[in-house]
Amino acid sequence: MKILVTGGAGFIGSHVVDRYCAMGHEVVVFDNLSSGRAEFVNPKAKLVTVDVTDRAEVQKIIAQVQPEMINHHAAHIQVGNSVKQPQFDAENNILGLLNIMEAARQIPIKKMIMASTGGAMYGNKPTPFTEEMREDPLSPYGVSKRSGELYLNYYYEQYAIPYVVLRYANVYGPRQNPHGESGVIAIFSELLASGKTAVINGDGTHTRDYVYVDDVVEANALALETNQVGAFNIGTTTEISANQVYKAVATSFGVTAQAQYGPERPGEQITSSLDTTKAKEKLGWYPNVAFAEGVERVVEWYKSSNSLSF
Ligand SMILES: NC(=O)c1ccc[n+]([C@@H]2O[C@H](COP(=O)([O-])OP(=O)(O)OC[C@H]3O[C@@H](n4cnc5c(N)ncnc54)[C@H](O)[C@@H]3O)[C@@H](O)[C@H]2O)c1
Repeated sequence: MKILVTGGAGFIGSHVVDRYCAMGHEVVVFDNLSSGRAEFVNPKAKLVTVDVTDRAEVQKIIAQVQPEMINHHAAHIQVGNSVKQPQFDAENNILGLLNIMEAARQIPIKKMIMASTGGAMYGNKPTPFTEEMREDPLSPYGVSKRSGELYLNYYYEQYAIPYVVLRYANVYGPRQNPHGESGVIAIFSELLASGKTAVINGDGTHTRDYVYVDDVVEANALALETNQVGAFNIGTTTEISANQVYKAVATSFGVTAQAQYGPERPGEQITSSLDTTKAKEKLGWYPNVAFAEGVERVVEWYKSSNSLSF
């Protein structure tokens, strides 16, 4: 099958491309390389450097490529930046998706898969979050992801294009950019790999649900095959504190030094985790990689690769 993967030069998207290529699919990657890297793109895939906000170009290339399915990972992912520049967030994450869907409906494609957020979707509610809970995004980033989901439902109702939305918890793994505001495992790993001291914001007791990228890739593989339509939480339901993350990364590096503590980031959620019963029952998906194992794999990548040139 011919599949277009937007954001396929990025952290998660490039792993999805690897899997789709390994499954024997013909993969075309759309990416503007704003945070992605051409060298992450599988050599079996074709990279087209395009910005999804360029309506005419997106229209032209999708008409040329004629993909059967589209997997949409291109997005600006910094929650803090979306607060500072909500228009920029919406241009990329809402209008970018609309440019793709308006071109895609004319082919038409057989299915749309979209990376959404579980961590920034449900607001401040008791954990774990389920898909039945009301969506209450508290940032422009969360609002733009929710808008994307609603637009996909519109294209399903109006043009019968089925969709699968995958609402990720905090994804971690090799190739994650350590210079963002999230991705604390990548951030700590890069600091410790270069002999620096890691700083934990606040007292380190805030928790998140960390899901390993291979498990997320598996959800994207299952999404190709399923007849299900709708949104699915993809996480582990396990809450891990920043202190525990630091301990795991430091242990894997053999570092005994303590982290420093800095001021808490304003507006930080105290806790977040996802209930994944729906993904288990409807997609047959469940997480496989335990946290300690996943951290080991990330640290190995930092020790063995040129990741420091990020
Ligand atoms: N990393 C996480 O924990 C996490 C959690 C929830 C959801 N997501 C979603 O998963 C997707 C991938 O995230 P990631 O962590 O791999 O981030 P990433 O920054 O590594 O990947 C995003 C990719 O999209 C590309 N891109 C950005 N804007 C573009 C544009 N206008 N046109 C074309 N390409 C563009 C970037 O160059 C990059 O390759 C995003 O949609 C993100 O919102 C990620």
